Amino acid sequence: MLGAVQFGALAACVVLFVPMGMAGWHLSRNKMLFFSGALFITLAVGVHLTPYFPSISSFVSSVSSVVVLENRDSCISLLHDIVYDVKLKPSRGVENLSNVSNHEELWSWSRSAPVMACGFQKLGRSDASDLLNGSWVVVAGDSQARLVVVSLLSLVLRSEEMDLIRGGLFKRHSDYQIVVDEIGMKLDFKWAPYVSNITDLMIQYKQSKNYPDVLVMGAGLWHMLHVTSSSDFGDSLRVLRDSVVPWLPISPEFNTDGPVTGSVSIQSPHLFWLGLPMLINSMLNTEEKREKMTDAIQVAYDEELYRSKLLRQSGGPLLLLDIDSLSRKCGTQCTIDGMHYDEAVYQAAVHILLNALLIESHQKL
Ligand SMILES: *[C@@H]1O[C@H](CO)[C@@H](O)[C@H](O)[C@H]1NC(C)=O
Ligand SMILES: *[C@@H]1O[C@H](CO)[C@@H](O)[C@H](O)[C@H]1NC(C)=O
Ligand SMILES: *[C@@H]1O[C@H](CO)[C@@H](O)[C@H](O)[C@H]1NC(C)=O
Ligand SMILES: *[C@@H]1O[C@H](CO)[C@@H](O)[C@H](O)[C@H]1NC(C)=O
Repeated sequence: MLGAVQFGALAACVVLFVPMGMAGWHLSRNKMLFFSGALFITLAVGVHLTPYFPSISSFVSSVSSVVVLENRDSCISLLHDIVYDVKLKPSRGVENLSNVSNHEELWSWSRSAPVMACGFQKLGRSDASDLLNGSWVVVAGDSQARLVVVSLLSLVLRSEEMDLIRGGLFKRHSDYQIVVDEIGMKLDFKWAPYVSNITDLMIQYKQSKNYPDVLVMGAGLWHMLHVTSSSDFGDSLRVLRDSVVPWLPISPEFNTDGPVTGSVSIQSPHLFWLGLPMLINSMLNTEEKREKMTDAIQVAYDEELYRSKLLRQSGGPLLLLDIDSLSRKCGTQCTIDGMHYDEAVYQAAVHILLNALLIESHQKL
């Protein structure tokens, strides 16, 4: 809102002082009033029309980000307004993680007016490649995070290329790295089943003063199963938050030797939290999971996440990719183990991420 106030003040000054300045030189008072009125009308019309003309809009946003800023926050909050098409829903989950087919048709953004106004779009291969060109993307977490990597790579790679890398990508409990030469994108998957593993990674990046442009992180399922303590989970989230916060004010030490050509590196790093999926207790595949990963503990873990102030909604640094909401909407038909969901869920998460990057880097395709 500060932007709007400043822009308003600037506009008022222009309306007042430009004609006064001119009058001081060689304009009569009537001419000055005419100019003043004309300027005022031009500015008012301009401000109201800019959203409809992307080129003007980007010009205005370079002068002042009134329009963009207002849209930006509301559009970010609408990114998860996604609907799944029940009729098309497959009756299988990801029983075979290497079976990646295209499930884009299963979901779309809601067609409500505010969502339509944001102009979200499913990016195709070339748009996604343009956006990620030259950037370093890191995804750190558990098997959910790995599924996000699969969705992201199947968006930027051709299916033949995807077939070639499957073996390496699906080695359980291991890191994975790929450089997509064509677009100079480096992607790291870091196996980090616990939040503490992610924190360790943040400390490494900090020590090497080399930060990724886009960082997606998320863990919690392992903790829920093996530690089963929401307060301990909350503590680990706060430690993570403290390790990430120092990154935030863009300081000269950013991008020392990371790639800087890509459009997303302009305001990097972009930080995302990959939320826990909806767990369907009766479908979980071991007795231990059904016993420990109850609905009550899920709620408690969720509360700790909000309490930790890690997420933007609670004043923190990370934008939530709300897998819980997406998996809930996709429903029980989208999972066979009550924990890992159909690709339609992770694909939607990837498109939410890419649209968030577009919004944050003030771009329109
Ligand atoms: C998964 O599918 C691939 C082919 O898409 C196949 O080669 C592999 O054997 C399958 N794995 C399992 C565990 O079914
Ligand atoms: C992937 O899963 C679909 C639906 O179960 C099946 O029809 C298809 O044959 C599978 N593809 C591969 C390569 O396994
Ligand atoms: C990526 O960026 C480089 C340098 O800016 C450019 O030469 C190249 O054509 C871009 N590639 C794609 C696929 O956009
Ligand atoms: C993750 O953290 C756990 C608990 O601190 C540790 O035992 C494990 O070795 C770590 N794993 C990785 C991949 O760093």
